[in-house]
Amino acid sequence: MNTRDTLKINAKGHLEIGGADCVELAQNFGTPLYVFDEEYIRRMMRVYRDTLQREYGENSLVLYASKAFSCQAIYRIADEENIGVDVVSGGELYTALQAGFPAKNMYMHGNNKLDYEIGEALDAGIGCIVADAYSEIDKIDAEAAKRGIVQPILLRINPGIEAHTHAFVQTATTDSKFGFSVSDGTAERVTAYAMQKKNVRLDGYHCHIGSQIFEKQSFVLAVEKCMDFAADMQNRLAFKLKTLNLGGGFGIWYTDEDRKISAEEYAEYAKALVAAVKRKAQESGMELPFLVIEPGRSIIGEAGITLYTVGAIKDIPAVKKYVAVDGGMFDNPRYALYQSKYTPVLANRANEEATEIVTIAGKCCESGDIIAANVALPKAQSGDILAILSTGAYNYSMAMNYNRNKIPPCVLVNEGVADYIVKPQSYADINRNDVIPARLAKKTK
Ligand code: LLP
Repeated sequence: MNTRDTLKINAKGHLEIGGADCVELAQNFGTPLYVFDEEYIRRMMRVYRDTLQREYGENSLVLYASKAFSCQAIYRIADEENIGVDVVSGGELYTALQAGFPAKNMYMHGNNKLDYEIGEALDAGIGCIVADAYSEIDKIDAEAAKRGIVQPILLRINPGIEAHTHAFVQTATTDSKFGFSVSDGTAERVTAYAMQKKNVRLDGYHCHIGSQIFEKQSFVLAVEKCMDFAADMQNRLAFKLKTLNLGGGFGIWYTDEDRKISAEEYAEYAKALVAAVKRKAQESGMELPFLVIEPGRSIIGEAGITLYTVGAIKDIPAVKKYVAVDGGMFDNPRYALYQSKYTPVLANRANEEATEIVTIAGKCCESGDIIAANVALPKAQSGDILAILSTGAYNYSMAMNYNRNKIPPCVLVNEGVADYIVKPQSYADINRNDVIPARLAKKTK
């Protein structure tokens, strides 16, 4: 059903994830519910870690891009699997630190890190900050000087690769808000600038060409451009590349329009990157850099599903049939943002053939609140448990309280055992920071 054996249909005809019956999960934890298969997550972390170690050696590190799904438990898993993480905000940094994740194995990204985020990262002893603006370099330098340290940094460069993916998730084309462009000399100028700073140590470069990319060649091309640029900087500025971070971006299966990529094939992506780095280093006589990759979606995306209960059904004859669920864009805004496609499964009748085309709608007061448009499903009835597959990445992490809906809880399953990793929100949680100024206080009449 998905690319690994995370999902099965059991003897009762129910969908199972990680050995747990989805109908029972819905009964025990309620819906909407995010469910994650721990084994899948660990397996993917190991695939990348072991491939880099085997093909490149100790001089490498896999970072889990935690923007895909951030909560304390995921940082514990990453730490247990001996990989690093990337964080993109003070909030992710804080969450990782609360989980006891070692700061030295963290990289911090972001195109506009706030002053206090830089301060928090330095105070924590973060391994590396990826700078994306002159002002950031200045700030890191000044804050590091205050603390009497020299902070390792990378520069985010933009190699100008156009990856084949949805335009909104492309992050390295020349008009991107991310990165210093290689083609117009900006990246060279900022290299020279960072090299003369006393309290930052420029270790190298970072690039990330986009997300949900399947073409291996796009990644290889990015490596080539980065390595060519580094060789150029070695010749022109005597800059020695110590670290090269190639970002993430490997695609996953959402629907049968996407290729199913096996664990072995993900290893092939990593191998292709390694081969390109080695080849380019040899060609230009550079030493092999410390090599970093930071996949997010491909580690967590297919590990997760969302369970909903079907509610209202609206059949507009000869037009459309809406099947509404008890979640919506507040737990998965990806259709609203990117017209993303998903595969639904009726978890309580998983063996039944699809007989109709429906649109799965959420419960928000907004027409664009759709989870999946025009999808095939058996005839759904109110009370059915509907699973949406491949929601592990960029769903919970982009969830919100629109219409003051409660962000669903997350459970982690392992061999049939399910535990909360994010507890349910209450209305009181949503109201926690609301304040009624004295002048608006309810007057007794
Ligand atoms: N490194 C950097 C610097 C990134 O910007 C990203 C993703 C990653 C790594 C991880 O990429 P992944 O392996 O997950 O593709 N919200 C969008 C995705 C935005 C991705 C942003 N950057 C979505 O829902 O599709």
